[in-house]
Parts: sequence; C-alpha cells; structure tokens
Amino acid sequence: MSDKLIIFDTTLRDGEQSPGASMTKDEKLRIARQLERLRVDVIEAGFAASSNGDFEAVKAIADAVRESTICSLARANDRDIARAAEALKGAQRARIHTFIATSELHMEKKLRMTREQVLEQARLSVRFARNLCDDIEFSPEDGYRSDMDFLCRVLEAVIAEGATTVNIPDTVGYAIPELYGNFIKTLRERVPNADKAIWSVHCHNDLGMAVANSLAGVQIGGARQVECTINGLGERAGNCSLEEIVMAVKTRRDYFKLDLGIDATQIVPASRLVSQTTGFVVQPNKAVVGANAFAHASGIHQDGVLKARDTYEIMRAEDVGWAANKIVLGKLSGRNAFKQRLQELGIALESEAEINAAFARFKDLADRKSEIFDEDILALVMDETVTA
Ligand code: KIV
Ligand code: ZN
Repeated sequence: MSDKLIIFDTTLRDGEQSPGASMTKDEKLRIARQLERLRVDVIEAGFAASSNGDFEAVKAIADAVRESTICSLARANDRDIARAAEALKGAQRARIHTFIATSELHMEKKLRMTREQVLEQARLSVRFARNLCDDIEFSPEDGYRSDMDFLCRVLEAVIAEGATTVNIPDTVGYAIPELYGNFIKTLRERVPNADKAIWSVHCHNDLGMAVANSLAGVQIGGARQVECTINGLGERAGNCSLEEIVMAVKTRRDYFKLDLGIDATQIVPASRLVSQTTGFVVQPNKAVVGANAFAHASGIHQDGVLKARDTYEIMRAEDVGWAANKIVLGKLSGRNAFKQRLQELGIALESEAEINAAFARFKDLADRKSEIFDEDILALVMDETVTA
C-alpha cells in the first residue's frame, strides 16, 4: 500500500454548498491558485453541469492551474458527465467524479430506483466517463448508511468498469471513528478487485467528528485519499477540515507514517482567503488557523514558551503560515513575558526596581483591561519615567 496520502480539496464544490458561501468565477479561480500553491493533489473545482456559471468556473480553473489535478463532480448520467469532460478539456490532469446514492433511504425515497437500477446506472456511468477521461472517481452517496453487501457489489462493478478512485462518503456525518474505519477496512477486504482502486474518505461534520472519522478511515481502513475543505467549510456543519487533517498527519508522522505533498506554510493564507471570500469568520479557537491557535495568555505557559517553545507548542506557527506565535499580555501574564515584551519594544529600563514598578502598574491595568497592547506598555513606561 502507498505511503502517500492524497489530499483532495473540495472547498470549491462541497464547501460552496454551504449556505451563503456561493463564489463567483473569479473568486473561485483565485482560491484555486492558492490551493495550487498549497500543493493539494486534487482540486474539485465545481459541479460543471449544475449551472453555466459553475461550468465556466471549472473551465477557467482547468485552463489555468497546472500543478494539481482538476476535478468536476457529475451525477451518474451521460449529460452531467459529458459536461464535466467538456469543462475539463484544458486541464493538464483531469478527473471526473461521478456519484449516485446507494443507501436504501436515498434509493427508495429520493431516487425512487431499485437496487438493480442503481447498480446498472453506476456501472454505465463509469463506463461512459472512462471513455472521456482516464481518471475516474466514483462515490456511492450516503455510502456509510448503505447495506454492506449491496455496496460491495456496486464498488466491485465500478472498479471493473475502470473507476480509479472509490470514495466512501459519510454524507450526513453519522459515523463514529472506529466504526467508520472498520467499515472501510471491511469493504476493502470484501470487494474482490479492491486493490485496483485508491480508496478515499469523505466525511461531514454533523457530530463534530469529520476529521477523526477521516483519520480512522486512513489508519484502520487503509484509505489513501482524504476529501476535505479549507476551514472545514461545507454543507450544514461542514466537511473534514484540510488544515486539521494535514497537520494531524504531519505532526503525528511517528504514528501515521504517511507522506503528504502539501506546503503547509500556505495553510494560513488559504484560510484567510477563503474566509474573506465567503465572509465566514474563522472562530478564534479553531485548530491551526484560529487567531488563538498559537497564542499564549497564561503566565505559566508564557514563561514555558519563552524558555522552550515545545513546552506548550506541538507545531510551529511559522510552519503553517503565521508570522510568529503570540504572547498575549493580560492579567495572567508573568514578569518574564512582560520583560521580554519590553526588550522587543526596545525599552531598556535601567534597574530591576524600575522593571518591578512598571510590572506592578501593568498588573493594575491588566485587571481593568482584557488585553494589553504595545501602546499601553509604552504609556505605562512613560508614566514610570515621568513619575521617577
Ligand atoms: O457528501 C457527499 O455524499 C458528497 C458526494 C457527492 C461525494 O459530497
Ligand atoms: Zn459531501
């Protein structure tokens, strides 16, 4: 099995399905260029058949981006697939991603199709797509809630027709890590031609477990592609977040032992761009990309980090694209952090007594103000000098 974990970014397709996150062609192109700088392996640029606007966006991205594979989603029918192929014509490397629901619930209530009809449609669609493109991904929508025996039949059939990636969506975020990991493992054991395709995970975050489920799909199930979005953007509670999955695999390489093609220093710029474009604010305590992800407020932590950063940091802020970590001065800060900030501001107080007096004033102020900025410190020290 390969040691490379393929990162498939679907910010521009599943992410855009987030209510209020719709993007123009130019906005999508700008994000796609940033995803290319981030070196994601596959960019799902949109759903070409869904609108003329999305067709044009997929086409513009396929024409402009050279380093990543460009993918378009398509329902399992000839019209959608042909439209995807048309939009992808200019791509250096193109992928068509076709899907049809396989859970009893979706087949009966939504598609109003029998199992045999769905199986046949999946088979014919992959056959049709394979005549237009070498790289075909198939997704059984609501795969995780599908009957295992039926799902095995569908996956065996689409791999036989030439699907190169099979993706198992937890469409409604119902999975639990261990169960999802074992679900993928069982599928790979039971589908006779499983080794002919790359297995992929696609998890939604309805129970807040999209990243954990994806990691279990990789570690227990042997999946080698993860579908994810910047800032976890996506339908309802969102998708597996790219920054979290990437940094989990990188930071715990000792455990996962997987390689990534990602340039992690482009993560924060990508997060900022997606947030500015969609207007979706990133919560301050969001892992990796939140404003507080590398900020230290308590005196004990600040003292530790000033002595050795790995006391309270498992990743470097700079490695994911922040300029630096942050020591936030406030009422919990200690003398050591205060003294360090004085040095950074170029303030040389002459004696320990002067520093102690300034520190006492700082503590008084911090009881009244939640964060102390550099201007506050300058004012404090001026006061001190004047008083002395
Ligand atoms: O969540 C889902 O099932 C999807 C598929 C179209 C892959 O987004
Ligand atoms: Zn999805």
